[in-house]
Amino acid sequence: MRDVKLIQIFEHHIAQKYLKRSGLAHAIAVAYHAFQLGREHNLDVDIASKAGLLHDMGHYTWYKNGKWDYELYKQNDIHAIKGAERAHKLLIRLGENPIKAKTIALAILFHTDSFLPSNDIVRTPLQQIVKWADEKDEEKGGMHHYRTIEYDRARNSIIRLDQWIDEELAKSY
Ligand SMILES: [Fe+2]
Repeated sequence: MRDVKLIQIFEHHIAQKYLKRSGLAHAIAVAYHAFQLGREHNLDVDIASKAGLLHDMGHYTWYKNGKWDYELYKQNDIHAIKGAERAHKLLIRLGENPIKAKTIALAILFHTDSFLPSNDIVRTPLQQIVKWADEKDEEKGGMHHYRTIEYDRARNSIIRLDQWIDEELAKSY
């Protein structure tokens, strides 16, 4: 049994705000990739999918004169840190199991090397697959953040992924 389903996270206004900012279509694609990789590697697919869905919720919009400024972003970005914190707060608020919430937050924290002084950290298998899931959906020039999806379609994808997770978890009981 899960304490929190993806649909509860998805429908929360905080998740809506930040998932839309960094791209709802990308968030859902990464959640699906994380589910599949999690299943292949025998990991908790619920944790993997949630981390995938929320991995980019820490993004800030670095604009200068009304335009996106990639240099500013590169210099100042801490989206992995902020995302880990935001996701953790949201999950706890929704009643997530605290150990799961921490595991998800850490997977978000380590989903990228972009903010780290070096790229030699050793990831757990779960942290590694969330990073791979993100990379699978990456497009040149950060275009994956701009792909759009209609709300109803997004919502239905989340409901379907919830069903897959429940089916997968039922197998392990
Ligand atoms: Fe991403």
